This record gives sequence, structure tokens and C-alpha cells, in this order.
Amino acid sequence: MSSGMSDQKFMKSFSIFLVLGVVLTLILILLGNLNAGTIGDQVRDERNALAESGNKNALQPVGQISVTGDEAAQAEIVKVAAVTIDGSNVYQNACMACHAAGIAGAPRVGDVAAWAPRVAQGDETLYTNAIQGLAGQAGYMPAKGGNMSLSDDEVKAAVDHMVAQSQ
Ligand code: HEC
Repeated sequence: MSSGMSDQKFMKSFSIFLVLGVVLTLILILLGNLNAGTIGDQVRDERNALAESGNKNALQPVGQISVTGDEAAQAEIVKVAAVTIDGSNVYQNACMACHAAGIAGAPRVGDVAAWAPRVAQGDETLYTNAIQGLAGQAGYMPAKGGNMSLSDDEVKAAVDHMVAQSQ
């Protein structure tokens, strides 16, 4: 009986010990979760702050030249890129076939006499006729030399090049 008593005592303290252990574990788990929650919040806050405010440069769309963060400077770069179309390059690719040798009535580049009356019309007329095409007395000039993938500015640059070579 006495040993039973001590068993009972033991069981009692053991149960208390068990319950305490369980409670302690629960508290630790709870604390862990709270902590993890806080860290998660911090990460989220930082990410939001990054997206909203500061890092516009990191979020630039692909294809935008990003040499500096300065938007004015970037606009300048784009402008320079647009201005530096190589007229002689366009000429060689799209116009030379007719205009180098004077094929099909095309005024030959370098033939000052052939170009003089055309140049006298003014740049705008030359541009328009080169871009839209011209069915004239001498022959048929296809719009953009038949290369519709050229931009108007590229055709204009080629005209400038041809005129400069023919004066
Ligand atoms: C298929 C042949 C051909 C190609 C390619 C061609 N041209 Fe011409 N071009 C002509 C002919 C032909 C004329 C003369 C038309 C006329 O006055 O009767 C002409 C005329 C011109 C003139 C004079 C227009 C005027 O108002 O007198 C310009 C400028 C010109 N071409 C620019 C270009 C440019 C720039 C290209 C390339 C992008 C080009 N051409 C490609 C055949 C061509």
C-alpha cells in the first residue's frame, strides 16, 4: 500500500511535470510563430517600400537605355541615337541599286546636272517624293525605294546623303 502511495505521488508529480512540459512547448511554439510573423512583416514592409519609393531604376522596363538614372540624360541619348542614322548606309542598302548607275531613269548620284533641278525643288519635295514615291518624266521611283521597312527619317537621311554627293 505504501508503495502504491508513492506510485500515486510519483504519477501526480509526473503528470504535473508533463503538463508543464506541454504548456512550455506550446508557449515556445507560440513565441516562435510570433517571431516568424514579425520577421515576415519586416520583409514584406521592406519589399513594399522598395517597390513604391526608391528603386525606380531597378524597375526600368527592358530596352530603356539606363546609363544614368537621370531621365533627361536618357532622353538625350535616345535623341542622339535617332539623329545618328547613317544616310550613306541606308543609301547603299536601299537606293544604290538604281541611283549609283542611273538605272531606269534614276538620277545618278554624283551627276550634278541631273540633280540640280531636283535640288532646286527644295528638301521637303525631295523627301516627300522619296518617301511616297514618284512616277515622273524620267521613270518610276518606288516609295522608299521599295523598302517599306525604312523609317521616314532613314529615307530623309539617304536623300541628304545623295544630294550632298551630287552638288
Ligand atoms: C527601283 C529604282 C530606284 C530605287 C531603288 C530608288 N530610286 Fe529614287 N528614283 C528612281 C527614279 C527612276 C527616279 C526619277 C523619277 C523621275 O523623276 O521621273 C528617282 C528619283 C529620286 C529622287 C528625286 C525626286 C525628285 O523629286 O526629283 C530622290 C530624292 C530619290 N529618288 C531618292 C531615293 C532614295 C532615298 C532611295 C532609297 C531609299 C531611292 N531613291 C531608291 C528610282 C529608284
